[in-house]
Amino acid sequence: MCAKVLQALLNCVKYFTLRSIKIIVKFTSGILRNSVYKCLWILIAITVILYLACKCDLSRKNGATKIIPKHPVVVWWTLNFGGNVGTRTCSRNVKCDFLKDRNESDHYKVEAYLFYGSQIKLNDLPPRRPEDIWGLYHEESPRNLEELMHKPMLKLFNFSATFSRHSDVPFPLQYLESLEDITTLKHFVPSLEKNKLLTEIAPVMYLQTDCETSTERDAYVKELMKYIQVDSYGACLKNKELPEKFTGDYLNNLNENDFLNFVARYKFVIAIENGVCEDYVTEKFWRPIKVGSVPIYFGSPSIRDWLPNNKSAILLDDFTTPEILSKHLKKLLANDSLYEKYLEHKTKQIITNQKLVKELVERPYQTDGMDTVERFECFICEQLNNKENIGTNIVNKLHYNCPKPISALTLSVNPTNHWVYSWYYARDSAEKLYQRLTK
Ligand SMILES: *[C@@H]1O[C@H](CO)[C@@H](O)[C@H](O)[C@H]1NC(C)=O
Ligand SMILES: *[C@@H]1O[C@H](CO)[C@@H](O)[C@H](O)[C@H]1NC(C)=O
Ligand SMILES: *[C@@H]1O[C@H](CO)[C@@H](O)[C@H](O)[C@H]1NC(C)=O
Ligand SMILES: *[C@@H]1O[C@H](CO)[C@@H](O)[C@H](O)[C@H]1NC(C)=O
Repeated sequence: MCAKVLQALLNCVKYFTLRSIKIIVKFTSGILRNSVYKCLWILIAITVILYLACKCDLSRKNGATKIIPKHPVVVWWTLNFGGNVGTRTCSRNVKCDFLKDRNESDHYKVEAYLFYGSQIKLNDLPPRRPEDIWGLYHEESPRNLEELMHKPMLKLFNFSATFSRHSDVPFPLQYLESLEDITTLKHFVPSLEKNKLLTEIAPVMYLQTDCETSTERDAYVKELMKYIQVDSYGACLKNKELPEKFTGDYLNNLNENDFLNFVARYKFVIAIENGVCEDYVTEKFWRPIKVGSVPIYFGSPSIRDWLPNNKSAILLDDFTTPEILSKHLKKLLANDSLYEKYLEHKTKQIITNQKLVKELVERPYQTDGMDTVERFECFICEQLNNKENIGTNIVNKLHYNCPKPISALTLSVNPTNHWVYSWYYARDSAEKLYQRLTK
């Protein structure tokens, strides 16, 4: 097609150069030949096409005309986040164009927007057109965006990738690197040795820098300290100094072997999440499991589903008060075989929880954040390429279920906790946001 036009154009030029004088003479003399007409028409057409193309390009720069691209366009709305830019090929060879620069997205007909939860700014969201697909990626508790605890905020989104097993691209095991981490003896300190160490260190370790949490973990630990010795190294309830080698930049060295060996000497490690959400299980839980210390855990209400064995952790909410928990700890301290029941993933190197094993085998991507992001991008892309069949999808609490904060200490809602106050505030704010964006 293009070649033909070019050929015609060339012929035209040739015709003019060879015969220009003759033609002009013929023009002026009023004898017009058919081929001249033909040529003129082609020239006019080309001029018009060139003119339109230029105009189109200009209007593109002004954002007036949308370019219809070859593949569905997906924009990462939150900046500095997301996987690839450019064309991605996903399963069944479906393709999408991913953009990270929002400004550029003005020029395209965008079909989906993706958001990274912690970077969402409520006063900086695109219009919520019902025909657009919105995707939420969030791996954290809602402490940075409390509106996510509420349905009106969640239902702005059509698909999600979160720690909840019910999300579209779930990653409940985001903090577990491998099954080998559970059974490894690399850092493990056997009971006999741990017993000897009790002359130097407390049986329980606590290390936190964030002291004001919705779970009120400091209030719990403070109470527990009345009944049993706890070594507290972080900013919260500090009663012991970390060895010098860890003090410099210890937050970035928590996974170094030296530090893991340091933790492994403790019989118990307090592992209280900063937020309570279904399937939100962080390194606070998996680090003691990895080193072979017993976590004293509070956080995800569904933690039982992820324990390597029936007794891999002491679950704080099995004990009504810190004092009762302390009695249980003392019982275990007095009897190694009772204590070791909590460490069968080390002592026998077994994992009886088939759900856990299956989850990691079937969804290996979840141990790698970048891989998870790319899965989500492709999941969205596949939906866009199959729009007729996907029906209506709206994110609900199952995808990200963080109820009203409860205190580890009382195991109930503490109305004087400012996180509870802000839960109500966030509920109103989420509702207003939904109204504003969808009106
Ligand atoms: C995008 O546009 C906004 C507002 O027009 C501007 O402030 C910002 O600098 C632009 N960003 C980039 C990366 O060009
Ligand atoms: C430790 O506990 C086990 C299991 O309950 C029990 O059989 C054993 O007698 C206890 N040992 C001591 C020294 O109390
Ligand atoms: C815990 O024990 C129960 C009953 O023996 C069993 O059904 C369940 O699968 C076990 N859970 C784990 C995590 O091993
Ligand atoms: C996407 O979510 C919006 C907002 O809840 C909704 O109006 C729309 O119908 C959803 N679209 C699809 C295809 O599920």
